[in-house]
Amino acid sequence: MRTQVGIVGAGPAGLLLSHLLHREGIESVVLENRSRAAIEATIRAGVLEQGTVDLLKAIGVGGRMEREGAVHHGIELRFDGRGHRIDLSDLTGGKAITVYAQHEVIKDLVAARLAAGGNIVFEAGDVSVHGIDGTTPSIRFRHDGESEELACELIAGCDGFHGVCRSAIPQSARTEFTRVYPFGWFGILTQAPPSSRELIYTHHSRGFALVSTRSPELQRMYLQCDPHDDVANWPDERIWSEFRARLATHDGWAPHEGPIIQKNIIAMRSFVCEPLRHGRLFLAGDAAHIVPPTGAKGLNLAVADVRVLSRAMTAFLREGRHDLLDEYSQTALRRVWRAEHFSWWMTTMLHQFPGNDPFQERLQLAELGYVTTSRPKATTLAENYVGLPLE
Ligand code: FAD
Ligand code: DHB
Repeated sequence: MRTQVGIVGAGPAGLLLSHLLHREGIESVVLENRSRAAIEATIRAGVLEQGTVDLLKAIGVGGRMEREGAVHHGIELRFDGRGHRIDLSDLTGGKAITVYAQHEVIKDLVAARLAAGGNIVFEAGDVSVHGIDGTTPSIRFRHDGESEELACELIAGCDGFHGVCRSAIPQSARTEFTRVYPFGWFGILTQAPPSSRELIYTHHSRGFALVSTRSPELQRMYLQCDPHDDVANWPDERIWSEFRARLATHDGWAPHEGPIIQKNIIAMRSFVCEPLRHGRLFLAGDAAHIVPPTGAKGLNLAVADVRVLSRAMTAFLREGRHDLLDEYSQTALRRVWRAEHFSWWMTTMLHQFPGNDPFQERLQLAELGYVTTSRPKATTLAENYVGLPLE
């Protein structure tokens, strides 16, 4: 098998890269180790930045998102039993976010690739990359019991944090920056009407809580928890009692409760691998960097990476230009580190740290008070949350 760009991983990064390259007349093959059904059913992120939404529309995969996604013009920060609205659109010259689940984006991208005759190999096992230091790299994998080799001109490592591509870069040629947080998020899906028209990020002495949504009938909510906890320790009544306690306001607000149909625990870390390139291998998305979910940046950063990468790969494969490929890592890392800072800042402001240090608590409340009363500070939150312009 032979193609121009071999892409490892059919997450948002890999699928979108394949679609963007196709629009430039560049061929790619996507190798994914899970099944189509599995990737289309994995519950993850839900908030799309303005730039992500604009891009999906511009490349013809935004139709269902426009019909079924919900545009939100603000968010609420809740602390001390009171809500404070951040008017995202007013603060950013009309920008907004769209709540549309990641697995729906995946379904739309898979459908678009297959409709255009794209090649996605699902259930590809034992994927490994070779020859990235030379000019004829390749990807080996197993499929339907056979060993296969895909010869390529360039390889994109879009295989997420636990993938194989990052470790194909020799340890001496990369630097990794990590921060692991001493808490996680307990995520639920509940069959209930929305509790709020906009997302609610809550700071509370019992821990952070977030009210999000998926549809008029299905709601997504998160609670700060011990990252090593087990969902089996959380019967529905314990979850609702915790949400009621953390989200309570002085005027008696309470969430709409319903049957909980999904529970999972998400560990939280900040991570960056530099550089994003080694020879003919280019990392994008979670394969290269992780943010804690508090700023809703993970999926959006993956999109921003591949937008830069698709242009650089196109310039190389069409015109033999090296300059954009040479700049890819530096260009993408500027946005990555901005998002790393924003996600760390939101996380630090909103969560309880072990020991409940009263000094830290006062600092958090001072920061929340400032963000919700100063227009410049609120603008900082808003412009990062809706997403800085794509380069
Ligand atoms: P991924 O979506 O991880 O895609 C990588 C793909 O590569 C996967 O399909 C995987 O199966 C495949 N793969 C892995 N290894 C191999 C291999 N060896 N060979 C072939 N294929 C391979 N972000 C938010 O903003 N909000 C959230 O609430 C949120 N929740 C999350 C919950 C979980 C459990 C996780 C893991 C992440 C969450 N994120 C969240 C982050 C966000 O979902 C990611 O940033 C986003 O998925 C990144 O996209 P990606 O394409 O880079 O990687
Ligand atoms: C969702 C996830 C996030 O990480 C976030 O900050 C807001 C919403 C969600 O899954 O809906």
